[in-house]
Amino acid sequence: MDTEKIKGKFKELFGEGGVAYSSPGRINLIGEHTDYNGGFVLPGAIDKAIYCVIKPNGTNRVRAYAPDENPATVALNSEFGLEEADKPAERWAQYIFGVAREMAKRGAKIPGFDVIISGDVPLGAGMSSSAALESCVGFALNDTFKLEFSLMELALIGQATEHNYVGVKCGIMDQFASCFGKEGSLIRLDCRSLEYEYFPFNPKGYRLVLINTCVAHMLGGEYNERRESCERVVAAIAKKHPEVKFLRDAKIEWLHEVAGKVSAVDYIRAEFVIEEIQRLLDTCELLNKGDYEAAGAKMYETHTGLSLKYTVSCPELDFLNEKAKEYGVTGSRVMGGGFGGCTINLVKNELYDEFVRKTIAAYEQEFNIKPKVYDVVIKDGARKL
Ligand code: GLA
Repeated sequence: MDTEKIKGKFKELFGEGGVAYSSPGRINLIGEHTDYNGGFVLPGAIDKAIYCVIKPNGTNRVRAYAPDENPATVALNSEFGLEEADKPAERWAQYIFGVAREMAKRGAKIPGFDVIISGDVPLGAGMSSSAALESCVGFALNDTFKLEFSLMELALIGQATEHNYVGVKCGIMDQFASCFGKEGSLIRLDCRSLEYEYFPFNPKGYRLVLINTCVAHMLGGEYNERRESCERVVAAIAKKHPEVKFLRDAKIEWLHEVAGKVSAVDYIRAEFVIEEIQRLLDTCELLNKGDYEAAGAKMYETHTGLSLKYTVSCPELDFLNEKAKEYGVTGSRVMGGGFGGCTINLVKNELYDEFVRKTIAAYEQEFNIKPKVYDVVIKDGARKL
């Protein structure tokens, strides 16, 4: 549903006076699985967003409606209170509840409200639809009830919702990008200090395009398991180097010192993370010089690392990556958490049409699935509409 339609639907269900907000999904150029390791990321908000329309309802309960959900499998409406014991059964509603609870834990007094949620961020595609939902609800509640949380607090509230109400121990990248996005700019975020820098991104002669495998193989625990591997290696390194709190703080030689003291799987995952943090910094320098070919080569290195060392790729993503290489694409890699979703591709303008056409045909022939293609447009973050 577009914003006009959901405004109409809100009126139909809850009457006049609803206010609309939106918060976008994101891309990430490079720097994957680095955020929860205190490293850097380079995301940007995109032109696909979650929308909500909201209004206080004078009670202490929430009435929520999600017209895009599939009515055959899940309820479109949910009603719940705002105490810890009131967690709703519908997964989509748990995000709304979680955000409100996290705000309450930080001292906010949130009365009941009516809300409709919609959007066009593809689900399970690695574009952070859940972070967009958290940021949208957070931004809307903050504005509606004058809660005065800063944008960074809203991002942290979204992340805490993921940790405490969804069960994914994610980093801060997605919620941060959804809140702080700026048209035409990527954002280099230092996930340890939370300092950030806007990075104007207009690669002359190139386009960024996402190819969606349209598969999602993520099993519940895979992501959290990666994080635990990293934490075990940090603990091992910190025995000798107590200043190490995140893999970001560790020199590669310090990783070498714990070889044999951590499992081979943990070791190789940590090696990927330490390399990836450096790769991001190197890529930023290349972008500053306008050397997109070398930056693209770094994207391929990231893919290889994510596939072979961090093992968060899958046959569909590896296939797309190989095809991109074969068709002469400058840079290509799996984007986001992995196990399905999209590849992000940096393509020369003159190759674009052929690349997209050939890729769709080859992927469809191999997997019997038509992949989806999205041109990346970098837009602003959370806002009132
Ligand atoms: C998911 C998480 C992020 C980040 C990426 C991988 O999108 O939500 O915090 O860890 O995976 O870079």
